[in-house]
Amino acid sequence: MLLGTRLQAVAILSMSLLLQLAESRVCQTCRRSSTAKNQIASRRQFQRQIATTTTIATAAVSDTTEPRTLLPVTETFIDLVRSTGYYAEEYNVTTSDGYILTIHRMPGSPKKPPAANKPVVLMVHGLLAASDIWVLRGPSEDLAFMLVDAGYDVWFMNTRGNFYGRRHKRLTPKDSKFWRFSWHESGMYDMPATIDYVLTATGQKKLSMVGHSMGTTMALVLLSLKPEYNAKVEIVVSFAPIAIFTHLLPGPVNTMVVRYGKQLQKTLKALGINEVFPRNPTLLGLYATICQTPKIEILCQKFALSSAGLLKSSSFDAFHMNVMNKVLRHYPQGSSLETLLHYRQILMSGKFRQYDFGPERNYMRYKNVTPPEYPIEKITVPFVLYYGMNDAYTTKEDVHALMSRLKIAEGKEVQHDRFSHLDFLLSNLTKPLVYRDVMHAIEVHHRGKPSSSSPATAAAASSSAAKASEYGRLAPSTVAV
Ligand SMILES: *[C@@H]1O[C@H](CO)[C@@H](O)[C@H](O)[C@H]1NC(C)=O
Ligand SMILES: *[C@@H]1O[C@H](CO)[C@@H](O)[C@H](O)[C@H]1NC(C)=O
Repeated sequence: MLLGTRLQAVAILSMSLLLQLAESRVCQTCRRSSTAKNQIASRRQFQRQIATTTTIATAAVSDTTEPRTLLPVTETFIDLVRSTGYYAEEYNVTTSDGYILTIHRMPGSPKKPPAANKPVVLMVHGLLAASDIWVLRGPSEDLAFMLVDAGYDVWFMNTRGNFYGRRHKRLTPKDSKFWRFSWHESGMYDMPATIDYVLTATGQKKLSMVGHSMGTTMALVLLSLKPEYNAKVEIVVSFAPIAIFTHLLPGPVNTMVVRYGKQLQKTLKALGINEVFPRNPTLLGLYATICQTPKIEILCQKFALSSAGLLKSSSFDAFHMNVMNKVLRHYPQGSSLETLLHYRQILMSGKFRQYDFGPERNYMRYKNVTPPEYPIEKITVPFVLYYGMNDAYTTKEDVHALMSRLKIAEGKEVQHDRFSHLDFLLSNLTKPLVYRDVMHAIEVHHRGKPSSSSPATAAAASSSAAKASEYGRLAPSTVAV
């Protein structure tokens, strides 16, 4: 058993090594970011990654101390939150096309018990994640807990296909039809079903949304194609948005997707694989277990961060192994192959548009050989877009291109030169650099346009004009510590 486990570990690590090898090759022909300096830097990083990988693999195989038992990975959102003493609830939402999603809620905390008419915030996770990602670090670090303590009723969406979205009225995850979706369908069906459910359950007219990465992509899909939802959303706070996607920094995942996307798609389809990166207790448990061996803990940490393109992120120093182990038990949580491919398409085309099924099927579906672009100019909800200076997926250029097409948008660069994509959720710098500003933005928007049902807004309504202009003046530099 133990030997088998070790072999598996070596297999996983070798796979990662191959991935990284692939990266180094691609970087010599990187299409979009190709300065000589970049290439040298990424080659050095690559050499370090190989060294790390080899060391971990060696340590994993040669360590013959006590046999280890696998860590449990069955912990759910409810377990994570209740263990902190905060309130946690779950609800089942059925979408108009039959998916049954379990969504979560934190209605209150010891400081602010559940009560009627609290203003509502909906948190929307990113690619391959689930609601869990918002509550891994607990009350002293996570935005969700800060919002609950400030008196908000906080809800958490889950998209079809992840750990909490594997049920359907007629289909099962064994049917390949179950997996025929990308973030387009999550934006068109999962998000509106969740918003309607939350507004009905709370009796509120509007809610605020906080989305990470794909969370923003889905909000843009919904608000541009179903304009009536603009009246239900007060503000979208967006961490590391992805929509207009024309720049990309080198990184193993990027490389895989760009360079090998087509072959990967063919191979996986031929094998009948529709689901990617499901929550797999054995693999995640194995990874977490190996990484708890004192000798290799720090190497694991480096390795995981570098695989996620985070080696030079602020998380790298600012990261507790404790959090790392939790992350390893709650990420990834699964999605469809098409979700990844749709991102690849918008990267390759440089256009934020619907899924490309090929000319013939496009014509049947869209009455055009190419897919239509999302009409994001029509969106009337204000967006506040936060982006890091060292984010391989969300670059300043792309955020600015997105802002120029949105009616009301404010961009905020996080003032830390190593802040990257997952840092919005994992770095211990999030609170001073990002979350305090977010709390302010949500509060000001909420007060600025009070919904009659919220008691907290009554007193604040008179000062709403003053607040709104104060908000308008918030320069990006206010995000700095
Ligand atoms: C949601 O559905 C699951 C599976 O049918 C069930 O176990 C759970 O109790 C339901 N939750 C609620 C709140 O209805
Ligand atoms: C973040 O964590 C690092 C390493 O644990 C620590 O040195 C630093 O002071 C922490 N920063 C904050 C803002 O808590």
